[in-house]
Amino acid sequence: MSFDTTSMSSDLPFLGPRSGPSSMDLQQLSRRPKHHVSPTLGELMQLVGDSNVVVPNQNNVFETLHSSPFVLSFNNLTYSVKTPRKITLSNALNGGKISVSNTKVLLDDISGEAREGEIMAVLGASGSGKSTLIDALANRIAKERLKGSVMLNGEVLESKLLKVISAYVMQDDLLFPMLTVEETLMFSAEFRLPRTLSKAKKKARVQALIDQLGLRNCAKTVIGDEGHRGVSGGERRRVSIGIDIIHDPIVLFLDEPTSGLDSTSAYMVVKVLQRIAQSGSIVIMSIHQPSYRIMSLLDKLIFLSRGQMVFSDNTSKLPEFFAQLGNPIPENEDRTEFALDYIRELEISGAGTKPLVDFYKSWSRNQNRETTLFQGAKMSLKDAISASISRGKLVSGATNIDSNLSSTVPTFANPFWVEVVVIAKRSMLNSWRSPELYAIRLGAIVVTGTILATMFRNLDNTPRGIQERLGFFAFAMSTMFYTCAEAIPVFLQERYIFMRETAYNAYRRSSYVVSHSIIAIPSLIFLSFVFACITFWAVGLAGGSMGFFTFLMFIFASFWVGSSFVTFLSGVVAHVMLGYTVVVAVLAYFLLFSGFFITRDRIPAYWLWFHYISLVKYPYQGVLQNEFDDPNKCFVRGTQIFDNSPLGAIPDAMKVNLLKSISRTLGVNITSSTCVTTGADILSKQGVTDIDKWGCFWVTIALGFLFRILFYFALLVGSKNKRR
Ligand SMILES: Nc1ncnc2c1ncn2[C@@H]1O[C@H](COP(=O)(O)OP(=O)(O)OP(=O)(O)O)[C@@H](O)[C@H]1O
Ligand SMILES: [Mg+2]
Repeated sequence: MSFDTTSMSSDLPFLGPRSGPSSMDLQQLSRRPKHHVSPTLGELMQLVGDSNVVVPNQNNVFETLHSSPFVLSFNNLTYSVKTPRKITLSNALNGGKISVSNTKVLLDDISGEAREGEIMAVLGASGSGKSTLIDALANRIAKERLKGSVMLNGEVLESKLLKVISAYVMQDDLLFPMLTVEETLMFSAEFRLPRTLSKAKKKARVQALIDQLGLRNCAKTVIGDEGHRGVSGGERRRVSIGIDIIHDPIVLFLDEPTSGLDSTSAYMVVKVLQRIAQSGSIVIMSIHQPSYRIMSLLDKLIFLSRGQMVFSDNTSKLPEFFAQLGNPIPENEDRTEFALDYIRELEISGAGTKPLVDFYKSWSRNQNRETTLFQGAKMSLKDAISASISRGKLVSGATNIDSNLSSTVPTFANPFWVEVVVIAKRSMLNSWRSPELYAIRLGAIVVTGTILATMFRNLDNTPRGIQERLGFFAFAMSTMFYTCAEAIPVFLQERYIFMRETAYNAYRRSSYVVSHSIIAIPSLIFLSFVFACITFWAVGLAGGSMGFFTFLMFIFASFWVGSSFVTFLSGVVAHVMLGYTVVVAVLAYFLLFSGFFITRDRIPAYWLWFHYISLVKYPYQGVLQNEFDDPNKCFVRGTQIFDNSPLGAIPDAMKVNLLKSISRTLGVNITSSTCVTTGADILSKQGVTDIDKWGCFWVTIALGFLFRILFYFALLVGSKNKRR
């Protein structure tokens, strides 16, 4: 069935109501009753599924809505941070009292209430604590540091539940630059919407969202970044909002969703938010300086000044507040501008905002006396969530609703394997769109391989050839690790997106780790194949096709453990330069302790542990065994024992005579054709006897898995994403 977006929205849906005359003008809009109802995503999707179903009777929905109102209340929120004590030189010299307090209060006793269907806006000058308040409400400040309570319908919000029912749109946009707007939203839909929903419905939801956010014109445009031109800043902002509202969260937090947008785009964004609120959500956002039109969409305002609350009530109360304060807002002046200017003046004046804060406190006490009647009729949280879900909010596949609140809604919309597939699909699309990253790696392998192939061309089996072979293997096996380091910036860039996505349960961390590992394998196999093909025959390595295959396997194993190691590091260090430095240093040590420069029996006992954790040791020993394990092969025969010694330069006839006298002295018969050193001798001389060939292979592979697991724990610990 084709999906007709016009049945849900007009061409400019953010400017016109979904049902009703699309030509309704803005003035009418802003005068509409606040509690009219937009269809939820669930209702929209019913429409998608069956064109005969009409939009539910608005009155019915209105009743349902009002029988399940959500009220988010927060009381006495106080948050302070420790700042380094300031010791001025004069203070110290005079032995004066160092009186500068070392705690800074960022939020001071903030209380308020946000209701379903409403937009609550936090206003204030830069640095007044808007983002901090939003963070506090969204449970992004460590519990032990934040005093006060945040409750939904009178129940303390568990962090686990809040993650599921809420979304947080941050101030800056973090998106994959190579995906189009439509793809970005589609991936979000695949993460956030349950598997039970057909692909067609997910697509329909994305299309509806594209219309709703006014992104139709740029739906097929890539997001872009500094390098590639993509969508505009305002469009990017709306895409960021789109990915977080795709599942219709019950509580939506936004930090300055309109900053950097022109007034029309800003209005469009807030209009969309109003719609979301009216479909049964609580919307809380910070905003810098709302235009007159945007003000008409905001239901509640909180004004902050240096972490203190100077006003918190319905937007309509603002003039009354200032009138009672004795400073009525002049007729022709913008209300918020007036309020912000007034607060700013107090802040810079000697008196400070204390009188205003005190006045607000007494004023709000009077107000509360008048409005307590309105507060009643709350549903329990569990019932409210159930009612909301049955209306189609919070599309996360919830079907069974039992007594346990946290299991009312599943923590993740999809099973593990679906997440793995979707993440893999997204990374493949990303790599496909930016082939240069892979090309650089391939280039590095081809160049290194070619240099090695020409430098070590056609090595023979003489003592010198053996020495050169050892050098070749040591270098070749560490190349794999160094080329893996190139992936660090990519991983680090992705890390922030990952943190954002997992913070609000888009997918499991484990799915990311698994997907990330699986997706790496095919490209690593290809790189290994290229490197092995370039070097194996050119250098003249032993073992024929079986030898080649084993060599290939070891190269792959090195790539695997190298990429796992680098991935793990990217989960631990947050900075690119630091990442490179650590990788290069650690790999140099790995090579030093691999057994090539100094054999195991010569390594001091207290360094032996490093030899065993050296990731280069295992693949290096493996390829050595692959090279020298042919028992029929001889590497030093007869007079060759003089090669690489001071006697190497004497004429051959003299060497033969020398050999004869040596034979006589030792009592054994060594002729020019006697084999003096076999492969096994070389291996034991190199100390490559502790683990056999396949043992080395499996240890390497297992270490790769170990680092992937460590990566998982690093993500688990490192991505808490909370303020302290
Ligand atoms: N860890 C910290 N240590 C010291 N001061 C801090 C810390 N975190 C935040 N602040 C201060 O808290 C104040 C409030 O910061 P916040 O980010 O909430 O401001 P804001 O109102 O969102 O400003 P803007 O409009 O510029 O985004 C600022 O003065 C900031 O410098
Ligand atoms: Mg801020």
